[in-house]
Amino acid sequence: MDPAISRIDSNECPYSLRRVQESDIDLVNGMLWEEYGTSYPYPLRTLTPDGIFVVATHDPTGEVVGFSRAAPLTGHPGVYELGGLIVKRPHRGRDVAKQMTVWRMQEARARGAKVAMSEPVCYRVDCASQLNLLNFGFVLLGIQPAKYPDIQREILQGQPESVLMAASWLVGESGFGTRKIFLPREYRGYPYNFLPREIHSKRFERTVQGTMPVPVHHPGRAGVGSLGAEFIDIPANWPESEGCITEYMHQGYRFSCLLPGFGDLEDGRHFDYVRLYRLPDSVHGFDFRRVHVAPHLHPLKFLIAGEHACRR
Ligand SMILES: CC(C)(COP(=O)(O)OP(=O)(O)OC[C@H]1O[C@@H](n2cnc3c(N)ncnc32)[C@H](O)[C@@H]1OP(=O)(O)O)[C@@H](O)C(=O)NCCC(=O)NCCS
Repeated sequence: MDPAISRIDSNECPYSLRRVQESDIDLVNGMLWEEYGTSYPYPLRTLTPDGIFVVATHDPTGEVVGFSRAAPLTGHPGVYELGGLIVKRPHRGRDVAKQMTVWRMQEARARGAKVAMSEPVCYRVDCASQLNLLNFGFVLLGIQPAKYPDIQREILQGQPESVLMAASWLVGESGFGTRKIFLPREYRGYPYNFLPREIHSKRFERTVQGTMPVPVHHPGRAGVGSLGAEFIDIPANWPESEGCITEYMHQGYRFSCLLPGFGDLEDGRHFDYVRLYRLPDSVHGFDFRRVHVAPHLHPLKFLIAGEHACRR
């Protein structure tokens, strides 16, 4: 499919979708700054050839009223990241975001994507972007606290924005397969008690042979006035995984989310990661009341908030 232009199919919704042009970039950034504040650190700079960039226009006025993008996730072949979704306030609630998501999912699939992932924001009480993803078969894999500084500073009062981790498997039913996950004793019940049932509805018995890959560290992002949390992705399908996770917990890391099937071995087999987070010492009084999550993840949010409270 090359949907060079697509009309939203409803008389009440006179909107069209098309690819972003260079001349749209300032308009797109205007929308992002209006929503997130002028310190928003991820404006649209270039239209890279491997990316999918879509705008929605309001037919009667020709105004650009929505934007979204998708691009291959660095280091994870076959995984596309959906992001940047925004619709101007007067045009919300009319399926504009939904249709832009349909476009991006179809095109990512056509380009060979096997997994779509996204990090929907948590500052909105209505959790709109999280719920939108559920319409497309995304599974909510956990919470990444304090990841992005300088977003919505008015609402968050300088606290880095938290996001979820969500993924949708375009090929096969679930990225989990039946690989066994080795968690430390205190974390063994987490997938069952705190994550959506798609994650634990099968029996995980298969072990992954060979050497365990090394963990991948993601340093905290530096913002204008604050520093985001650090994350570490630990390969989870080896008996040694348990000890490795325990070691990082002793260093102050705590459970954030699961990344099923995000790891690739040289022979093409997949493996799962557990992602842990650690707040920087400079973050005092992180307020979980500003982290809004879809009902499926309420138990995990309260668990993480409790763990954080114990840390102080
Ligand atoms: C999130 C956003 C893009 C949704 O745009 P929209 O065009 O209003 O969304 P749509 O009308 O296409 O709705 C799509 C789905 O989103 C969810 N949704 C949208 N508005 C919602 C609301 N106010 N409350 C709860 N869910 C909502 C619903 O699941 C909806 O599907 P449904 O109608 O079948 O229930 C828009 O609210 C926005 O720009 N928000 C600010 C920026 C933002 O949060 N971006 C996401 C970054 S990850």
